[in-house]
Amino acid sequence: MENLKNQKNYYITTPIFYPNTNLHIGHSYTTVAADTIAKYKKMRGYNVKFMTGTDEHGQKIEKSAKDAGQPPIEYINTVVDGIIELWKHLNIDYDHFWRTTDPKHIEAVQKIFEELFKKGEIYKGVYEDFYCTPCETFFTELQAKDSKCPDCGREVEKVKEDAYFFRLSKYTNMLIEHIENNPDFIMPKTRQNEMINNFLKPGLEDLCVSRTSFKWGVPVSFDTDHVVYVWVDALTNYITLLGYTSQDNDLYKQFWPADLQIMGKEIMRFHTIIWPAILMALNEPLPKQVFGHGWLLMGSEKMSKSKGNVVDPIVLVERYGVDAIRYFLMREVAFGSDGNFTNEALISRINFDLANDLGNLLSRTVAMIEKYFDSHIPVEHCPTAYDEPIKELATSTVAIFEENMDKLMFSDALSTLWVFVRRTNKYIDETTPWLLAKDENKRDELANVMYVLSESLRIIAVLITPIMQNTTKEIFMQLNITDSALQTWDSAKAFGLLPKDVRVTKGSVIFPRIDKVKELKELEELLHKTVSATQPTTTQKTVEDTKPEITIEDFAKIELKVGKIIACELVKKSDRLLKSQVQIGEEVRQIVSGIAKYYEPSEMVGRQVIVVANLKPVKLRGEISQGMILAADDGSDLGIVTVDKEMNGAEVR
Ligand code: MSP
Repeated sequence: MENLKNQKNYYITTPIFYPNTNLHIGHSYTTVAADTIAKYKKMRGYNVKFMTGTDEHGQKIEKSAKDAGQPPIEYINTVVDGIIELWKHLNIDYDHFWRTTDPKHIEAVQKIFEELFKKGEIYKGVYEDFYCTPCETFFTELQAKDSKCPDCGREVEKVKEDAYFFRLSKYTNMLIEHIENNPDFIMPKTRQNEMINNFLKPGLEDLCVSRTSFKWGVPVSFDTDHVVYVWVDALTNYITLLGYTSQDNDLYKQFWPADLQIMGKEIMRFHTIIWPAILMALNEPLPKQVFGHGWLLMGSEKMSKSKGNVVDPIVLVERYGVDAIRYFLMREVAFGSDGNFTNEALISRINFDLANDLGNLLSRTVAMIEKYFDSHIPVEHCPTAYDEPIKELATSTVAIFEENMDKLMFSDALSTLWVFVRRTNKYIDETTPWLLAKDENKRDELANVMYVLSESLRIIAVLITPIMQNTTKEIFMQLNITDSALQTWDSAKAFGLLPKDVRVTKGSVIFPRIDKVKELKELEELLHKTVSATQPTTTQKTVEDTKPEITIEDFAKIELKVGKIIACELVKKSDRLLKSQVQIGEEVRQIVSGIAKYYEPSEMVGRQVIVVANLKPVKLRGEISQGMILAADDGSDLGIVTVDKEMNGAEVR
């Protein structure tokens, strides 16, 4: 038994997820990895706190809720229920699920903001630059080339607002120093170099930390026109959860600084620059390690809903079982590197590693004990010449497995373990139990072979627990291992703990073999179906696409008029925008539209178009636009809406 008093604390976090989309297998990757480490550390005797949650504020969530026609919190609640359901499907055992709309979090964010303001770390100014709403990130003109987000490639918008700024620039050298003095702070090493060379060495600018153009956020307590920038709100969740700023802050004292913060590489910048700088400004310690894993790709692209190349984890879990999916995620790609998700690789792993290697080892062992010994091996053993190498390999496997798990090298840990699984299968071929069974004098030797196989399976079952706990339970069940002392991590370090009277109970096949060709075809269709069910397409309207019902009075507020295009040209320095002069009755207006990809300027001239005439004028790329030309857009093509009779200036109703 562990001495609880001497137990070391271990705090591990995942990022908190945006609740505006169904999470895909890429999101599951982060969480399965963190859960694997949490389970592993618990088995190694740590007092673990594993947290995850949802990042519920910001313009993006506000917009998704609006598009769904729901108040933000109602919309979010439904999505959060789905996320919690997904984590259940994936056997994620978090200790805390934290939501940034929790009043305790909101209060703590306000206190943190006030504290930073009082300290002079936050000051008021005017923000005039670009903003990418899907990424909730600010960019300078230089970063947002051609008005495109450098991270996701989508259009950024120009914003000019009163805003509060955090003195991020002041922390440039302190951060470089911290990273250099703590070589394990940013992992893997490649990300360390990226952060230093791409962001810190060129120098940091102060960070805009409040917005006034929308409301869905934590209000700045002393200036309520402002809401706190969503990344500041979100990052502080790691400590607000522990009671930071509240009277009840025992968890904070016990568990902060975090031992490990895991996330995908694209959000490392926020976690290794902005987050530590905020902590420095608050005089609080920095997390011990921030690990940025690679992406799950489809082909050469990051899996992401906006690209329509996502894989639904629930479909996979329901089809192959949670353990197969968790094994695949942790085995297939080296943590830290990008890796491709293919159906083919998944089926191969299930067939070879799980069905052939592990599944066969268990079913052969149990079947032989059943057949040769009526499900119960006799007490006396007689070692064979083949035993020693197996025992030695078991011991070294446990040591290497641990070493790899400690470095988050899940794939290496599993590949080492599978060498042992295969070696144990080979032991059956070497000892030829079917021949021993024919000789009455070899009964003890045969019993010994069965014992070595059972004990090897026990050790394998212990080691796979953090990744495949259902399989562990099934192996223990089939081998009738009920004593918890035989299930602990340390018990895997000793070969021979299994009592000598092994009894077995035949169970189901743990990983049935799959007919690859047939399965690939079916899976392709199934995943395609679920992708199109979650993806806006030309013919399908999704919840996100459907706008709320409006009244005739609402519609009457829009002034639609027929206009004729009398001149049209490309906007300078833009490959997207056309500038049209539109005659509407007596009046000529200039309208800028993002349609240059679909129409040549000359094709536009002479067309009778429908114009939204009472739209507030805006400037696009320095050109005034006094209205909007209506067009149909199916995501891949675009067509201008026209009328088929000459009726310039007529109202459209
Ligand atoms: N809300 C922010 C995090 C705030 S933390 C203070 C966020 N959310 S997210 O929902 O977009 O992403 C959550 C996690 O999923 C991130 O670690 C992200 O890297 C990960 N992944 C999303 N797509 C992924 C892949 N295709 N592959 C691997 N991980 C991916 O960012």
